Order: sequence, then C-alpha cells, then structure tokens
Amino acid sequence: KTINWDPEDAGKSGYDHYMLKEINEQPTALRECFRGRLDELTGRVKLSELGNLEPNGIVTFVACGTSYHAAMVGTRLLQERGIPAQAFLASEFNLDTVPINPESVVVGVTQSGETADTMRALREANSVGATTVAVTNVVGSSAARETDEVLYIRAGPEISVAATKTFASQQAALTMLATVLSGQRSRELVQELRAVPDQIQSVLDTSSAREIAETYHGSDAYFFIGRGYHYPVALEGALKMKEITYTHAEGFAAGELKHGPLALVSADTPVFAIVTGDGRLAEKTIGNIKEVEARGTPVVAVTDGQSNVERYADHVLEVPASSSVTSSIVANVQLQLVAYWTANQLGRSIDKPRNLAKSVTVE
Ligand code: G6P
Repeated sequence: KTINWDPEDAGKSGYDHYMLKEINEQPTALRECFRGRLDELTGRVKLSELGNLEPNGIVTFVACGTSYHAAMVGTRLLQERGIPAQAFLASEFNLDTVPINPESVVVGVTQSGETADTMRALREANSVGATTVAVTNVVGSSAARETDEVLYIRAGPEISVAATKTFASQQAALTMLATVLSGQRSRELVQELRAVPDQIQSVLDTSSAREIAETYHGSDAYFFIGRGYHYPVALEGALKMKEITYTHAEGFAAGELKHGPLALVSADTPVFAIVTGDGRLAEKTIGNIKEVEARGTPVVAVTDGQSNVERYADHVLEVPASSSVTSSIVANVQLQLVAYWTANQLGRSIDKPRNLAKSVTVE
C-alpha cells in the first residue's frame, strides 16, 4: 500500500503553503524573540549578546527588500529616542557619499545574513573601522560572522520566498535595540511588546482579509498608505502584494498621495489605509482617505477603531489598540493575509514566486 505523499509538503504542518504557515507562526516567533530579553518589573530590555554599543553620531542602517522596511522602522525608533539615524538601501550605500568613520555604528538588517548588497555595505563599513552590527535570523551566516556585534531575531527557518514572520521579528528586535541604545526604560513599552503575540493571534483568528481578497482579486492595482511607523508597513504591504500576486501594487506615505499617485486611483484600485490611534497622524490620513473616496475608489481601513475612519471606509480590518510601533507590527499581519488570499484566488505559485529568490547573492 502506498500513500500519496509529497516530501515538499512535509514541513507545512497541514497548511497549503509555507507562507501561510509562517504567517501563523508569528506569535510563537515573537515570543521566542522576546524570551529572556524583556523585564516587566524594571521596564528594561536586555540584549545580552550585544556588547557595549555607544552610538556617536548618526546610526546608519543598510538593508534590502523587506529588511529595508524594517530598517526604516529602526531609523524612526532611534530618531524618536533622540539618536540620529538614517537608512540606506544597501545597493545605494557607498562610502563616497555616506560619511562613515571609526566612530560610526552601521547596522545591517538581513534575514538570511547572505544578501550580497548588504554584505558589501557591511564590509565597506568594516574597512573604515566602523562598528558593525548584524540583525539577522541565521546563526553563523556571513553577516553574523563578519560584523562586530550580532542581534538574532530568532524567528526560526523561513522557507517562503516572501518574508513574513521575519519582518515581525525584525520590527520587534529593532524596537528592543532602540530601547537599549537609548538607555530607555519603559514598563509600558515592555508590556506593549509582550502583548503583541496575543494581538497577532487575535488577528489570525478573526481576520476578514480572505473575504476582502475574494472581493478585490483581479483589481488593476493595489495601493497602500500610512504615516509614521505605518509608512514602512504600507511599503511592505505593497511589496508582499507584488511578490506573490504579480499585480501592480505601491505603498505611499499618505501625505504624498496628492503629489501624483492620486492620478492613478480608480474604482479598480483598492486603497488600503493603516490608521491607528486618534492623534494627528490618524486625522491627516483620514483626510487623505476622503480624497480617495471622493473618486469612487474602494477603501479598506486597517484600524484599531480609535478614530472615525470606518465612516469613510468600505471595509475594515481590525487590530487591537496599542502604541503606534506595536500596532504597526500587528497591522502588517492583516496586509500579509490580504496578499496571501489574493494570490491564492489567482492561483499563483505562492511560496516560490516567478523570478524571485529567497536570498540574493549577486549585486
Ligand atoms: C530577497 C527576498 C526578500 C528579502 C530580501 C532581503 O529579495 O526575496 O524577501 O527581503 O532578499 O533579504 P535578507 O535576507 O537580506 O533580509
């Protein structure tokens, strides 16, 4: 007697694709990322593997793809804590234009630890004596071996070409790194981080992303907008969509819509807007949504219900209320699910999209 058994399916634990499995692994991946690192009593974060990093001047991030979106988050996290920071696409990083010296701290964010562009940037930083840090998932990777300090994101192996759980773990790890570098102690932030795995679980259990994907698969294009921490998440939402659906998708800073992209919106281009809290950023993004809505464009709001964005949206994807950085980690999960179910509707090769590789080892 034989059973039909495809060795390719062995690791999928019953999921149709590694990508969906990895999206669902995010609560576990994040708990692992936090393990032993968060102290709720003192509000302190402890990253014991890191040496004493004292940034003097601008902290420079280098990364590609999804990791670059995480680097944008890292940049904002440091800036908000009074540490100047900048992020470069590793392919655009160059010692001729970016002043790096022995005092500099250069952080390479790379899931695989093998991306050629990121490794070149880190090697150049090493060559002038800067302190280099790798934020990576792979123990013993080139990035881990060739940098002065390593922060492991501990997401576990990621098989799907499109990065999902590793982005969440990068966001979490960089939040902890920013806390350590700035000497911040915050019980509130530590509690918010601790709450993220359960918040993601509730999104996974209740998300209506599948119905939204069924409604809008086959659209001409998909647009994603956000401000602050939600801006890199808008870019990431669009990247997931293009990678696995092969459909045009763009992420924009919400404020940039009126400077060009508004010419592209139509009834066939759903706009996904991430709006959390009820502060100024939410208010302004709602203003941008009104401009889109007035053109008959479907709007999907990813929101915690704190603002009145529902009034202007055709659909709502809910996330629990939290601070803007942690809610952006959770909001991204809704966008991962929309991309996944859209690609599923279109019958795409989700785990191995055409023309793409998990790890790009050429410049
Ligand atoms: C490839 C992958 C992306 C990834 C990027 C950077 O393009 O398909 O998912 O974000 O490389 O990879 P890294 O391993 O450096 O994070």
